[in-house]
Amino acid sequence: MSDIVIRPRPAPDHQIAVPSLPRPCGPVSQAVVTLLREPATATQAERRVRAAFHPHLDPLTDRDFQLGLWCLYELHLDGFPGTDPALEWSPALLAARAVLEEPFEAALRRLVGPLSPDDPIEEVRRLTGSGRPPRLARFLGRDATADQFRDYLAQRAVYHLRESDPQSFVLPRVHGRAKAALAELQYDEYGAGRPDRLHATLYARALASLDLPTGVAAYVDTAEATILTTVNVMALFGLHRRLRGAALGHLAAFEATSSIPCRLIALGAHRLGFPAAVATYYEEHVEADAVHEQVAIHDICGGLLESSPELAGDVVFGAAACLAVDELTATALLARWERAA
Ligand SMILES: [Fe+2]
Ligand SMILES: [Fe+2]
Repeated sequence: MSDIVIRPRPAPDHQIAVPSLPRPCGPVSQAVVTLLREPATATQAERRVRAAFHPHLDPLTDRDFQLGLWCLYELHLDGFPGTDPALEWSPALLAARAVLEEPFEAALRRLVGPLSPDDPIEEVRRLTGSGRPPRLARFLGRDATADQFRDYLAQRAVYHLRESDPQSFVLPRVHGRAKAALAELQYDEYGAGRPDRLHATLYARALASLDLPTGVAAYVDTAEATILTTVNVMALFGLHRRLRGAALGHLAAFEATSSIPCRLIALGAHRLGFPAAVATYYEEHVEADAVHEQVAIHDICGGLLESSPELAGDVVFGAAACLAVDELTATALLARWERAA
């Protein structure tokens, strides 16, 4: 990395110059937030983030680690109000990101363990095909209180208000059948030509119906570590071309394990008498994701592997990582509600 410094550009008079950055919760996120505020060289940034990172912590469940990484990925999406957009390509912040991504990816590979990529499509089907609804969706469908359900919506908002955006980074990196199928799936996720049907908008409407905020910034400071992990995994896979196989394997597992849980969660929203907008979001996914599952596994992953069979291991890794991180999140949320009960 070069030692070029990108200095934050002064905000015009009519803008508020103070960036609305997330609240740091430990040394890693503090180091990252400081880098967003004050210019540094790549060498300085790398040294500071490395010093803040404790090698014995588990990156997948450490909130400080995930928040630091989330802030760095946010530069590639909406950024932070009052912060210079040029920081997206600041060598210092890219160096900081690289320091965190290495242990993050290593921890994901440790979590999923050895995988068998001999027949990757079959393996993705096997991994996603238990047929048993996951415990978190069962709990939301049958047992969750109104407060727990609202909390679930608030926790998941960090992803759903940006639904499908990380996968859009992959489109220019795949070709032929995989590209056509991914574009078709994303077209649905983005409302099939209707802005009011964007899945992110449907989710915002569900939040608004419960008087909850509709911007991501409102949810970051209270998001559980593993909620940030679920978002960061998608960003890691989406932003690295070498991980495009993992991005699409992740997408396949995500879509293949969505329809049945969404049906249960919609039932939970009806059971609790929530406004229709809440169930509508989940009902939209019951049928859509039954179709998306086939498109994602057969056409997107199948198409990719037709032209790039060497990505078989990555496709299976992405699918397994999706499911394993989902499990971490289910454990974290159920424990959070048990603690609060
Ligand atoms: Fe969706
Ligand atoms: Fe979907």
